[in-house]
Amino acid sequence: MVRLPDSARLSIVRIGVLTGGGDAPGLNAAVRAVSRRAFQLGHQVSGIKNGWAGAMTGDMSNFTPADVRGILQLGGTILGTSRTNPVKEPDGVKRTLAMLKSCGVDSLVAIGGDDTLSVAKALHESGYPVVGVPKTIDNDLSATEFCIGFDTAVGIVVEALDRLHTTASAHHRVMVVEVMGRDTGWVAVMGGLAGGSDLVLIPEFEVGFDDVVEHLHRRRGEGKDFSIIVVAEGVNLAGLETDGEQKTDAFGHVQLSKRGVGDALSRRIEAETGFETRVTVLGHLQRGGSPSPVDRIWATRLGVAATELLHEGKAGVVPVRRDGDVAVVPLADLVAETRRVPRALYDLARVFS
Ligand code: F6P
Repeated sequence: MVRLPDSARLSIVRIGVLTGGGDAPGLNAAVRAVSRRAFQLGHQVSGIKNGWAGAMTGDMSNFTPADVRGILQLGGTILGTSRTNPVKEPDGVKRTLAMLKSCGVDSLVAIGGDDTLSVAKALHESGYPVVGVPKTIDNDLSATEFCIGFDTAVGIVVEALDRLHTTASAHHRVMVVEVMGRDTGWVAVMGGLAGGSDLVLIPEFEVGFDDVVEHLHRRRGEGKDFSIIVVAEGVNLAGLETDGEQKTDAFGHVQLSKRGVGDALSRRIEAETGFETRVTVLGHLQRGGSPSPVDRIWATRLGVAATELLHEGKAGVVPVRRDGDVAVVPLADLVAETRRVPRALYDLARVFS
């Protein structure tokens, strides 16, 4: 953590706030918390539009308290978001810093996942005061037990699984449910556990297509005439080809929704086993709509903490949830590695196969 010199502390009057990367329920709760606490402490707030894109181009507006009223329960983000990456642009970090300074933004709260926070880290390393707030429905940031949006996303998966159970059982079908999770299977495992799926396929642990077929035959042999398989979009199943597009975003990530692993799996299962199979791709439904109470409460706690850190002259850090309380960790720790589903949790899900 960097403690700003006293001269810098006195000069922080305007705090910029931005939301970057994929949206997540709870972003508005965080924007509201950052802003409300800033106003209370006597600062001004600039709402920066569309993540780092707005910081690069100066697309921002001065917030009044009315701008952040009535947004606690809203999904999406009133600021808009993007996957723009200044680090990849020629002189991108330098230009972003120059633009923020010319707009009179003395410090920044960046709300985002590993991509957004890695840009925040680059700005911090260039001497600009930035504090992060962890957000991603993928829940894969290290050094935090909470990421904005994950709790709501799991709730949406669970509701879908409850509904799919009844129709799967009525028709004696195999239901393949594709959920988000680029590098990790947090949404799949937690959703599958709470929603009672009988097989969860995630990027962390390798399973072959043959294992899936064997699983389905075993269940039929035991008289269980339907099956619910949750598959994370980023999974690689040995023996299963996917033929979707391979488009990438500004951070170099393949757009997995176009890869179609759920669809490929469902077609192969039906062809191989003869069991009637359907696929449901939950996609962006998992990121839409109103945040859960947990997301609202923690987005609020972390948003307030982020503003207080800047107010106290602390930068290059992120407030996180640890052991049920707010802790503060360096930005670098949060983006150092991808937090993966531990074996024990995965094994727990397999108890119910
Ligand atoms: O960043 C989180 C995430 O939800 C991933 O799980 C998913 O692959 C990606 O976003 C989808 O993003 P987009 O909105 O660009 O399709």
